[in-house]
Amino acid sequence: MTAVRAFTASAPGKIILFGEHAVVYGFPAIAVPLTAVQVTVSAEAAPSGSGIILHAADLGRTLSLTDLQPDDPLYDALAYPLQLALQTLRRPSADLYLTIRSTIPIASGLGSGAALAAALIRAVCGALDQPIADDALNPLVYEVEKRHHGTPSGIDNTTIVYARPVYFVRGQPPQTFMVARPFTLLVADSGQSSPTRVTVADVRRQYDSEPDRIGALLARIGGIAEAARQAIETGNISALGPLMDENHALLSALTVSSDLLDRLCQAARAAGAQGAKLSGGGRGGNLIALVPEDRAEAVAEALRRAGAVRVLITRVGPQP
Ligand code: MEV
Repeated sequence: MTAVRAFTASAPGKIILFGEHAVVYGFPAIAVPLTAVQVTVSAEAAPSGSGIILHAADLGRTLSLTDLQPDDPLYDALAYPLQLALQTLRRPSADLYLTIRSTIPIASGLGSGAALAAALIRAVCGALDQPIADDALNPLVYEVEKRHHGTPSGIDNTTIVYARPVYFVRGQPPQTFMVARPFTLLVADSGQSSPTRVTVADVRRQYDSEPDRIGALLARIGGIAEAARQAIETGNISALGPLMDENHALLSALTVSSDLLDRLCQAARAAGAQGAKLSGGGRGGNLIALVPEDRAEAVAEALRRAGAVRVLITRVGPQP
């Protein structure tokens, strides 16, 4: 039996900058980690025979892994990643006390499920003295994503596990990209949940019934993601705002925006944002707005007045 050592692991949220939904169909998309929000899991030894005990510190709930049956709503989020970790380590069980803390809002398009899975698996492997490499972790988190979202592209888990800006084409190894000049984004939570499984299935239904029209919208979104990558890599930040606005209009045409998200976009632009779009699955979740640094507070205030329940200011910067 390996001795257990105390081990803390974390994983960030993510924001998709361009290309959500189209990425499911093989078009490129780009995403960056959102380190302002995180899941942290601390693992320590539990008494012999106790199995895995989970303490969700934010919810004030403690439960045992063996209590979680497949029909429990928490099974996919908690039990499934832990089982994958134990299988990878070829261990039937372990005596561990896991404390989970998260600042990533659930079902908001910021990758809370993928980040929780990544932090849980990292913590269990680390505590059992077999830290897991990102390349081995990524496919496990993708398996968890399939449970949550049905047919995910893999962009969310990839951005979260590697915690790097990611240029992603389904089925290809992820590429990171360089950010030549920093830029400031606001991330505004609409307060409405973003049912990724439902929106992805709705786009699929539209595509199946009108492949030419919907395929053209998806291809244009892919073209926007490509142009945006070039703009970010060459420091041409002023090109990004119009690309965001066009990407949002295309997502609206795919029916994955909402009245509130459209209102938030308009409020951000009217207050001085250079561009704005929904980020993630849509119909709720978060909106991102590109802002000149000196307008960030004013645009954030306008977003709150227009109904955003929370606004984060984040800087996307050059990598070390
Ligand atoms: C969800 O964050 C992004 C979508 O493109 C779905 C996916 O890529 O799996 C809507």
